[in-house]
Amino acid sequence: MPTFRPLTFVSVLVAWLIYKNGLSVKNSILIKSPLPEGYYYGGNFTTQCTNLPNPADSDDLVKYCEDVTFWDLHDQSGKLSERRVILSCDPGRKQWNTVMGPLRDPEPLGTLFWYAPKYTKENVRRIAPDSVKPEKIVFKGYPEGHTFHPLGVDIYPSFGGNASNLYVVNHAKERTVIEQFVLSPNKPVATYIRTLSSPYFVAPNSLALTSPDSFYVTNDHLITRRWPIIGHFVPLLESLLALPLAFVLHITLNPPSSSKDAIQSLQIVEKLMPFPNGVSVSPSGKEVAIVSTTMNSAFIYNRDLTTNLLELKSQVQVPFSADNILYDDDSNLILAGHPNFPQLTKVVADEKDQVVAPSWVVEISPRKEAINVKTYQEDTLAPVSVHSKVSPSPDYAVKTLFQSDGSVFSTSCTGMRDTVSSVFYISGLYADPGVMVCRPQL
Ligand SMILES: *[C@@H]1O[C@H](CO)[C@@H](O)[C@H](O)[C@H]1NC(C)=O
Ligand SMILES: *[C@@H]1O[C@H](CO)[C@@H](O)[C@H](O)[C@H]1NC(C)=O
Repeated sequence: MPTFRPLTFVSVLVAWLIYKNGLSVKNSILIKSPLPEGYYYGGNFTTQCTNLPNPADSDDLVKYCEDVTFWDLHDQSGKLSERRVILSCDPGRKQWNTVMGPLRDPEPLGTLFWYAPKYTKENVRRIAPDSVKPEKIVFKGYPEGHTFHPLGVDIYPSFGGNASNLYVVNHAKERTVIEQFVLSPNKPVATYIRTLSSPYFVAPNSLALTSPDSFYVTNDHLITRRWPIIGHFVPLLESLLALPLAFVLHITLNPPSSSKDAIQSLQIVEKLMPFPNGVSVSPSGKEVAIVSTTMNSAFIYNRDLTTNLLELKSQVQVPFSADNILYDDDSNLILAGHPNFPQLTKVVADEKDQVVAPSWVVEISPRKEAINVKTYQEDTLAPVSVHSKVSPSPDYAVKTLFQSDGSVFSTSCTGMRDTVSSVFYISGLYADPGVMVCRPQL
């Protein structure tokens, strides 16, 4: 009878991985980069970056935050009057994580917060980020007993004080769904509208609105940890082998008042992708960026404004397991991720909250002039430069905005920049405190 030899199995597996997905495996699995304690682009991390405090009037903690997004409030004339931040945090993530495991206890619930520092170009040096406390967003009409484990979140801008549609991916106990709420700018109370569910929501992770009632949503895996027996190892293999099994959807909804199904139409806009994670729509709406975590890459697409279909334009590689991506106002992309995947899995397994994992956030911007990819040096300010690890893209410049070995900020998963005030936000999947704010040179 043949015996199962774990070591042989592992070495064959590693050899196969390197063959299939070489550079990504090398950069985010095998090699540990000598990252600094904390580096903030062109500045001083110690003086410019601060953790967000917990709310004043609630026991819920700003801890383990998977996503952050801007909520733009425009006045009657359509002018941007305030840029609020929505936080999606889940302090119970070490008990319940359908992407990385474990699936132990779904009861401790996650929380949404808003953070309203009212930063402008003029006041940004006067208002310390921790002098303003995030406020918990209380749910009205949320179904009793329905568990809440928020991941990706997006909200439509508000105009002249009107309420906004807010959508959040919820890794609920039974299955992963998308919750729809309405949130008005004058009170942190989100009114529950409905729960969106579909056989095509295999493993929703991140979403990006294309109107108040439509959005792109990524499914990070085809086989999930929720499956009996094979759920213990197939999702890991799917990730490690970068198996191109998962897909990205565009969803259009019927109005809540309609008697028809909530989902009016559903299109698969990208298929056979390994571990699609973050998704973002550019300010003009004409471009979409989708991250493949296990390919360490952002894929940039042209978007057809009427059909929502995507046409691949470019792939940009980074030296980490890429997580969430967001366009800023100038159509540059901010991409965050995990430079050492094995270390991230140690954080997941560490119940005492003593282990940290590194963070890396980059900006991806269209090149203004052609370069010679063989000789070009860029990102030279960073302690570990992007291009010491991957060759430069001919189309996009990649620049490090933030780096940490995990000691000052652990497990970065979303980076976001307000180009008006030059404030930069980072959220950490297993960071406590869960969100860091960096201001321009004081
Ligand atoms: C950053 O600021 C701190 C505190 O003022 C100072 O001690 C440190 O030397 C500065 N670091 C750099 C690299 O300028
Ligand atoms: C708020 O106003 C905008 C612009 O008129 C509109 O697109 C949006 O649907 C409104 N929001 C709600 C929740 O009615």
